[in-house]
Amino acid sequence: MSAAAIPVIAVDGPSGVGKGLVTRWLAERLGYHRLDSGALYRILALAGHRRGIDLHDGDALARLAPALKIRFVGATEDDEAILVDGEDWTHDVRKESTGALASLIAAQPAVRAALLQRQRDFREAPGLVADGRDMGTIVFPDAALKIFMDASPDERAQRRLKQLRAKGIEATLAPLREEIRARDERDRNRPIAPLRPADGAQVVDTTGLPPVEVLAIIESLLQRSAIV
Ligand code: DC
Repeated sequence: MSAAAIPVIAVDGPSGVGKGLVTRWLAERLGYHRLDSGALYRILALAGHRRGIDLHDGDALARLAPALKIRFVGATEDDEAILVDGEDWTHDVRKESTGALASLIAAQPAVRAALLQRQRDFREAPGLVADGRDMGTIVFPDAALKIFMDASPDERAQRRLKQLRAKGIEATLAPLREEIRARDERDRNRPIAPLRPADGAQVVDTTGLPPVEVLAIIESLLQRSAIV
């Protein structure tokens, strides 16, 4: 099967909006692969930081990107493991401080170019659910279904707090809210691949909705698409 014939569901949106839950659910429901593109930016940022690379040096980061051996293990948030060059990086990858470093390097064209094909390589039969910021606009513009999830900044900070604490990662609301605000601003206003709904994306505002209701909306979008 040529890559173009393999269906992609693109799910984009800002930090803490709940894309992880939705994309895991969709992948399981359809038996598709899943791409967590944010994790790739997080891993590259962390790898660069650990090697003492200047995180503003996009070319140096771009040279590092292909050398990293990355494996995602586990299908749920609870049993996920992220292995980099055989080491378990899960805990550090998920820290909010790593998200901020990822957002910093993600604004650099050389970094985005270096990760583009790596993301497209996740497109394997029978299909792919892709989670990120530019899945529907840049990485998979031919996606069969494009969803853009949103929620108020306050609610996203609350959700992220719960999520981090559940993973045993220390966090408090006020700094988290500020980190999310700063990250959003950078992700939305960067000149390259800014966070925005793709043309034709279904925008889902999840503010005030419990996860089961969000999944019910996603299910109805799926039913209306040509995918199921
Ligand atoms: O989804 P996340 O929080 O793991 O993403 C971390 C950062 O990576 C995010 O703030 C911006 C960047 N990112 C991106 O620029 N493009 C993507 N497709 C995914 C993430």
